[in-house]
Order: sequence, then structure tokens, then C-alpha cells
Amino acid sequence: MKTSSFFISFFLIVITSCAQKRQSIVGVGKEVDPYHFTQTKNLTITHGCVLSAEPLASEVGLAVMKRGGNAFDAMIATQLALAVVYPDAGNIGGGGFTVARTSNDSLIALDYREMAPLKGSRDMYIDSAGNARTDWSQNGHLSVGVPGTVAGLFEEHKYAKLPFAELIQPAIDLAQNGFVLTNGQANSLNENREDFIQYNTKPTAFVKQKKWMKGDTLFQPELAKTLMRIRDFGMKGFYEGETAKLVVAEMQRGKGLISYDDLKSYVCKTRKPVEFDYRGYNVVSMPPSSSGGIILGEMLKMIEPYPMHDYGFQTKQSVQLMIEAERRAYADRAEHLGDPEFWNVPQNILLSDAYNKKRMSDYDSTKASESKNIKAGNVHESNQTTHISIIDDKGNMVAVTTTLNNGYGSKTVVGGAGFFLNDEMDDFSIKPGVPNMFGAVGGDANAIAPGKRMLSSMTPTLVFKNHKPFMVVGTPGGTTITTSVFQSIVNVVDFGMDAKDAVDKPKFHHQWLPDTIYLEKGFNKTTADELQKMGYKLYMYNAIGRTELIKILPDGKFEAAADIRGDDSVSGY
Ligand code: DON
Repeated sequence: MKTSSFFISFFLIVITSCAQKRQSIVGVGKEVDPYHFTQTKNLTITHGCVLSAEPLASEVGLAVMKRGGNAFDAMIATQLALAVVYPDAGNIGGGGFTVARTSNDSLIALDYREMAPLKGSRDMYIDSAGNARTDWSQNGHLSVGVPGTVAGLFEEHKYAKLPFAELIQPAIDLAQNGFVLTNGQANSLNENREDFIQYNTKPTAFVKQKKWMKGDTLFQPELAKTLMRIRDFGMKGFYEGETAKLVVAEMQRGKGLISYDDLKSYVCKTRKPVEFDYRGYNVVSMPPSSSGGIILGEMLKMIEPYPMHDYGFQTKQSVQLMIEAERRAYADRAEHLGDPEFWNVPQNILLSDAYNKKRMSDYDSTKASESKNIKAGNVHESNQTTHISIIDDKGNMVAVTTTLNNGYGSKTVVGGAGFFLNDEMDDFSIKPGVPNMFGAVGGDANAIAPGKRMLSSMTPTLVFKNHKPFMVVGTPGGTTITTSVFQSIVNVVDFGMDAKDAVDKPKFHHQWLPDTIYLEKGFNKTTADELQKMGYKLYMYNAIGRTELIKILPDGKFEAAADIRGDDSVSGY
């Protein structure tokens, strides 16, 4: 589309939206004000709390809880609000995972990861010269996997108390009546402006002629209508009918592959959570199609025989041990993990004490080992997934991580339906040994096949102590997700940290390939120098993760920490 007609259409959208009455309060109970809200990073409270990437979304979740909803109600309302107020990663056009515990003590793992379209194929990103085309797998229509988030929301709703229509209404109000942009949100939209123009076939709410400024109102009337269809027709309001037709039309305009059948046949899978012990704590996390739970288990089991507490926080000894565990676990990820319906994942072996002990038999505490192997890639610096942690006083604990993959996913918005589509196809191994945008490599286990789910690193996790709730934790961060959750757990269990320190202290990351340690800004300089002397290559990283962690204190209170690295905020009572 020509730029001029793009702008004319855009202004028509804005004029229409501005003509609507500017309401300042959203939600069925009208408790949340989208023009006045504050970030809260830390809170210790009694009844329940919601931690998410945006204060408005956390507020929506809390309002639902105060109205009689449980943690699942709050989760659904928060996820939907994020799809409006955090278009970078909050989504209905992406996918994700939920790990939860219900008040009657059952454990749940929901897999609503995107799927390769039925017309997808193993070599769909290899060009005629045999080159892997990450430009096709990372942007625009061809990079999109069949979205799963809406199916996940309806599965979560089986454990909720309030009508779905009530939970989606705040998101509808926020999309229709607008909300005020923070500085970060305005900058992020400006930075992606050219991509939004390049990868769209219709005008979108996210581009305007002048720069977005802090304090501007973002109206998303097309998204509001899509959300209303979901409210009125349930799953069919997204996977069939008008919305599905708009997705298919968008695909056809941009040479994407998703068909009406792909959408209609999408299902959320209920899985058996990964469960293992670490120093007497019971850890519950996500099984494949995420690598998160298994890789987390491997890393914790590899370090368990060592006296981490005596080594001390971020000393040469503790960091080197954790790095070597991370290296070995990520090597396994590349070889052994993929969608369990397409690949036989040796989960029991990978989580066994004996296997992990053997894996560390070549560990040498005096020098760096080497990840000699296929071509290395760069780890991508971005935090465009989003994690929500919620707990209530009935015993429900919910950890959800969802994503569009990259910031704003494929950058393609469904024309007429107003939501971003993911670029999750890049999480497949598009060619053996070719790194994806996070530098992760893979082979057959994670090769593309029609209807297959691409391997993820997302690690929504619960921890129990003596069978009682102890932690809810998770984060975005691509391949750094699992190492961040690993370190957050070790920070609490081995180093006795409170929630705030466990989240805010600098993190580090190794993923086998590339053979480099990524150190977050603020990491202990002496330890960094010592590691370098042992032969490690170091690379400074601006920020690792945006972790949302709830620790349950001995008196039953909830100690919550929303990450300082972003707009993240906790609401509780
Ligand atoms: O599923 C995964 O592992 C990735 N698509 C997550 C992407 C992510 O966390 C983006 N932020 N860095």
C-alpha cells in the first residue's frame, strides 16, 4: 500500500475513535483508570496478587479478584488486558503455556503453543540457493504460526468462577476507549514504525504521522471488535467466522500459509507437568513443547550435589558451576527436545539424578570447558514475551508465559481485526545448525512439520515446600528464560534471598552455543575477571529477563516482586 493512503486510512480510524466518548474508567466494575495508574515493584500482602508487565493489566487482574474471582479469573482478565496495553508481547495472536495449581491441589499444564500451518514444510525457509532465510522466518506473514492464546484462555476458564464475558470486558474497554501510553510504550512504537509499515497490507492503529509521545492515547477499535466477537461467540469468535476469515484474508494478501482449517482445528493441549525435587523442594514446570521444565530440572539437578550455599552468591565457584550446568543442559536442548507428538523426548532420563551426575563428570572447577560444534549464532537481546504470576488466598497458583516471539511478533497486524500475529515459526530449527534469533540451534527433533509445535524456552514454574505453595515464577527472554528461572530459584533456595533480590540481582547466561557467557549489567566485576582468566568468553548484556516472582512466607503472606527491568508492576490486597 502507498504511504499516503496508509495515513489517510489511519486518520479515519483515529477520528472515528476520538469521536467516541473518552471514558476514563474501564471494566465491568469500572475500578481501573487507564489515565492514572502507578507502578508498584514490591508488595507483601495477604489475599492475592497479580504481577505482570504493565501496571494497568495487573490492576485489571486485581479488580477481578476483588470482585470474587480467583487466580484463574484474574489471569484471564490480565492476559486479555495485556493484549491491549502491551501489544509488543501481550497477545491474542501468539501462544504460550500455563502451569497452575488449583485450590483442591491438582496440578495443570496447558500447552497453547503456536503450530506450523498445514501447508508448512521442513524446508520452507530454505531458498533456491540452499540458504536458510531467517528474514522469512522472523518477519511478516510467512513467519506466523497458528495462534493458540485464545484456546488457552478458554481452557483456563474451566478453573475460573466468573463469566468469560465479564473477564474480557476490561480489555474491550481499554481497546475501545483507549489508554495512555507510557514513555517506554511510545518509544517502542516509534522504533518499530518502519517495520509496521513494511509488513502490513492495511493501516494499523500503531502507526501515525507524528511520533508517539508519552501521554498519547492509543485507541484500537478493530481489536475491540475482535474481542467482542470472542466475548459473544467464545472460541468460535476467534477460530471461526469473521475473525478467522480476516486472518485468512490477511494471509492471502501477504503470501502467508495459515488457512481457515488451521484455525478451526487448533486445540490447546493439557499436559502432565514436569515435576522434580531440588534440595527437598518440589518444582513443577512446563513439559514439551517447551524445553523449559526439562532444562530447568537438568540444571538444578546438575548443581544439587555441590554446596552452593557455601560457595556464595555470584562467586567464581557458584557462577562457574552454574554456567557449566547451563552449557550441558542447552546442548541437550538442541539434540533431544521437540514437540512430543512428533519426537520421542527422553524426559525421564534427562531428569534423572544419575544422568545429570554423569553429565557433570567432565566438569573441571579450574577451567572453562568448550562447546565445540556447529556454527554459533548471536543471542538476541529483547524481552518481548511476557510472564504473569498470580496467587490467591484459596490456594490457586497460576504461572503463565505467552509470546509473539519477537517484539510485536511478525509485525503484521490482521487487517480489520487489529491484533499482531506472532513470528513463532523462527523457533523451529529452520535448517540444522542454523541459529534462530536467540542463537539456539537444533536438528531433527525441532524440524518443521505440518501441525507441529515449535520448541520453546518458556518456563512458567511453581515451587512447593513440604507440599505447601512456596514460589510462583517465570520470565520472558528467549533462551535466557530458563537460566533466569534457574537462577531465581537458586537465589531463593540456596542463597536465602527475598523475592526482590532474587529478581533484581544481575543474571548471567550460557546456552552451549555460542560458547559465551552473557553477563548482565551490574554483574560482580571481580567474579567476571576471574571467569575470564579461567578461559571464558564474556559478553555484557543490558538486561536479562523480566521476572515476576511470588514467594510465600512462613506466615502465609505473599511477598511479590515485579521486575525492575521494565514497566512491570504488582497489584495486590
Ligand atoms: O518460546 C520461546 O522460547 C520464545 N519464542 C520466547 C521469546 C521471548 O522470550 C522473547 N523475548 N525475549
